[in-house]
Amino acid sequence: MKKYFLYFSILGFTFYSCSKKSTGEAAVTPPVVAPDTILYKMMPFPMGASVSASLLKTNTKYYDVAKKEFNSITAENAMKFATVHASQNSFNFTDADYIVSFAQANNQRVHGHTLNWYQSLPAWVTNFAGDSLAWEDLLKTHIQTVVSHFKGKVVSWDVVNELFEDDGKVRNSIWVQKLGPDYIARCFTYAHQADPDALLFYNDYGHEYSAAKRAAIIDMVMNLKNRGIPIHGIGLQFHTTYNETDANISAAINAAAATGLKVHISELDVRVNVNKLPAFVFTSSLAEQQAAKYKFIVKTYKAIPTAQQFGITTWNVGDADSWIPAWQNAPDFPLPFDGSYARKPAYASIIEGAK
Ligand code: G3I
Repeated sequence: MKKYFLYFSILGFTFYSCSKKSTGEAAVTPPVVAPDTILYKMMPFPMGASVSASLLKTNTKYYDVAKKEFNSITAENAMKFATVHASQNSFNFTDADYIVSFAQANNQRVHGHTLNWYQSLPAWVTNFAGDSLAWEDLLKTHIQTVVSHFKGKVVSWDVVNELFEDDGKVRNSIWVQKLGPDYIARCFTYAHQADPDALLFYNDYGHEYSAAKRAAIIDMVMNLKNRGIPIHGIGLQFHTTYNETDANISAAINAAAATGLKVHISELDVRVNVNKLPAFVFTSSLAEQQAAKYKFIVKTYKAIPTAQQFGITTWNVGDADSWIPAWQNAPDFPLPFDGSYARKPAYASIIEGAK
């Protein structure tokens, strides 16, 4: 079937406009996909995107692409601690429920993000003055309230996010300070108690560029697994660059697969403005190189055992929605859709990588 969707001739429709679309965005080569292609239908594993509730509510093009092209949805921010539990004694699931309803209406899987992180914490947590028992209760109450709320609707969770520094040391987060590094094991246990059917992931970035961090993560995950802690998967965020080496990408994906756990490429984006230039121009050559990197990532991922392929999720939908420009204070074009939701060369090469 798949081959009928791919065109390699000049008859291929031009879905990527060659006109300049926004600052720094130059003409690029059109991708070679048929106009009626639906991304997730071309993939042998779930294909997802993280989404913003406010963009879904206000941008119809965004809504339509998120609905049509993906069969897995992650809330980019709507399930984080600061969003759902901004005040100590109340929870607010408005945006998260909206995203879950959107996904349910479109038969999309929902992956939960994230139950425990050192960022996105409200002031009442960072200022919390309780003893270790009170901190434990805070942690457990948060995890179990959130997981229980979404029980039967959210199939999997990033339980703990970003425990490690890039050198492989445990980050000195407020959670580690208050509860010690093994609090992570209890996070998994609490989540499992609240929803025994949910698949539970440890999620982090940097597996591809830091061998030390990768080793620390794998050690920790294997330690949890060997102790019988309910952990089912590893999330490789893959906020990566067009010039990351293929060897590093393979090492990251294959090391995660060697644990025997499910592997989720959970926050994929491929930056091109690696020098953070303010007047950066996204050339067709860079678009092709970015596409080649997307293809290699998908191809490498597709080679791990099928049962471990939880899926690939891009971190938001179009270039204009990405967190990268604000983070690096410079333009970038890291996603498979451009700022107007036209398909970039990366879109076609994701499909190519899955063949
Ligand atoms: O919604 C408010 C808006 O009302 C306010 O005017 C504005 C002023 O700063 O802030 C808006 O909130 C921002 C939010 O994104 C939505 O845009 C927050 O300040 C900002 O901190 C938040 O950034 C998010 C970041 O996590 C921190 O939670 C990014 O969107 C999100 O992409 C990023 O995602 C993380 C993953 O969760 C974990 N892995 C790394 C990844 C990238 O940092």
